[in-house]
Amino acid sequence: MQTIEERFQFFEDKNRKAELGGGVDKIAKIHKSGRMTARERIQTLLDVNSFVEMDKLVMHRCHDFGMGHNKVPGDGMVTGYGKIDGRQVFVFAQDFTVFGGTMSRANADKVVKIMDMAMRMGAPLIGLNDSGGARIQEGVESLAGYADIFYRNVMASGVIPQISAIMGPCAGGAVYSPAMTDFIFMVKESSYMFVTGPEVIKTVTHEEVTMEELGGAMSHNAKSGVAHFAGENDEQVVLMIRELMSFLPSNNMEDPPTQPCTDDIMRQDEKLQTVVPADPNKPYDMKDIITTVVDNHNFFEVMPHYAQNILTGFARLGGKPVGLVANQPAFLAGVLDINSSIKAARFVRFCDCFNIPIITFVDVPGFLPGTNQEFGGIIKHGAKLLYAFSEATVPKITLITRKAYGGAYDVMSSKHIGADVNYAYPTAEIAVMGPEGAVNIIHKGKLNEADRTEAVDHYRHTFANPYKAAELGYVDEIILPRQTRTKLIQALELTQNKSKTNPPKKHGNIPL
Ligand code: HXC
Repeated sequence: MQTIEERFQFFEDKNRKAELGGGVDKIAKIHKSGRMTARERIQTLLDVNSFVEMDKLVMHRCHDFGMGHNKVPGDGMVTGYGKIDGRQVFVFAQDFTVFGGTMSRANADKVVKIMDMAMRMGAPLIGLNDSGGARIQEGVESLAGYADIFYRNVMASGVIPQISAIMGPCAGGAVYSPAMTDFIFMVKESSYMFVTGPEVIKTVTHEEVTMEELGGAMSHNAKSGVAHFAGENDEQVVLMIRELMSFLPSNNMEDPPTQPCTDDIMRQDEKLQTVVPADPNKPYDMKDIITTVVDNHNFFEVMPHYAQNILTGFARLGGKPVGLVANQPAFLAGVLDINSSIKAARFVRFCDCFNIPIITFVDVPGFLPGTNQEFGGIIKHGAKLLYAFSEATVPKITLITRKAYGGAYDVMSSKHIGADVNYAYPTAEIAVMGPEGAVNIIHKGKLNEADRTEAVDHYRHTFANPYKAAELGYVDEIILPRQTRTKLIQALELTQNKSKTNPPKKHGNIPL
């Protein structure tokens, strides 16, 4: 009979085996590729000593392809819960050292278990992905495991925040679950996402493409828009996740976490008086306004590399988290196009899911003209943003800094689609279109050059200002740029107990 000591030793050996995953050689290979192991990632992500591992000894149940003799406790998936800044989160991390972090029936069940718990406890779920996709040896059982996870991703959407990090080569099913979560982080030069890899592409379409070009961090951050953040290495990515979490509530029944405000809420910023140039055709950087007014100048930008003509991100005002959406005149004059509409629409919907007030900075010359845009469906995609702002019931505060022309005026959180407080600077221009375009249409072919210039000036004076909208109550208040911070904080206080619900329905039909 085993002694108590031997039993304890047996238990400790098993634990150690689980912690070693695929063994020291494979761990060394992971380190050599610049990556951390699954457990190292979790330790860096969570508060010190807060991680509680579950199902550490689960093993796969496959007997095909000689798998019956090839088992590792934990089966290549580390799952459990812990804390970020003292707040509960659930986490899973795929261990690439065990069968390439692939999805088996057994380790899918581990993920399913913590997803169900995360929903019951109202705590966010964070997935650290590093996986070759469906475990080929398990066939349809692996696909079933994925589908069980996908289904829960959808059920959890809008209930708890779901965050994904892509931290190695992720293929097939390994990319679809992240695609249904709220935010995707990628690591530069060591993470990849694709449905089918370069070899398959070469066979089917004869295209030659590298892993990096096809599914690297910058491809998905700058080109496809699949990913929202790119970090230099594993450590930076998990620290970015910690920062993101600081803006988010644990679930859709909570308000986002307030922090003590260490920045003067009455701060007036003289430099704002000159950020918007006198010449309406001159670009300026909207980030100069944002970073000047938010608490401690801290703007946590979301999708900074994609559709840079619109800015999205989180910040705090008076200690309260807010979501910011802003046209960016420094890039394509801040025009709305397909990509910027989709980017902002998804962000607005995220904020609305999780009770985060939305502040919108407007300087938009309109929608981008052109056959590319029309054939690409700008009508449908622009409508997404209109839909998202309209259905959002969180506090909505809008500031027009300069241009608000045409349909884009309506779309960018105008009073008419439910904004609670609408401000404009004296430099605002709110009209159907810019003076040049308007005169060209109204006086088509009827004016000589001198009269045309005069007509443009007249239009600018009469319509390209905020006063018509203010006369009609479409703008509540015209404010000086230096007052922006105080005014936004005031509006947030006003709207903090806002209560608004949309008509009961199963769900709306956003133009997808
Ligand atoms: C079983 C797999 C595997 C898989 C990798 N491995 N992918 N085992 N099923 N899908 C194993 C390898 O055999 C190897 O085992 C270990 O993981 C590491 O793989 P390597 O190839 O040595 O690593 P690397 O060179 O870094 O390449 C990683 C990779 C590549 C790019 C992920 O392995 C790859 O292309 N794998 C196949 C990807 C794929 O097509 N997956 C199926 C997608 S279909 P050893 O024992 O040698 O360490 C899918 C369907 C779901 O996911 C759809 C739902 C919508």
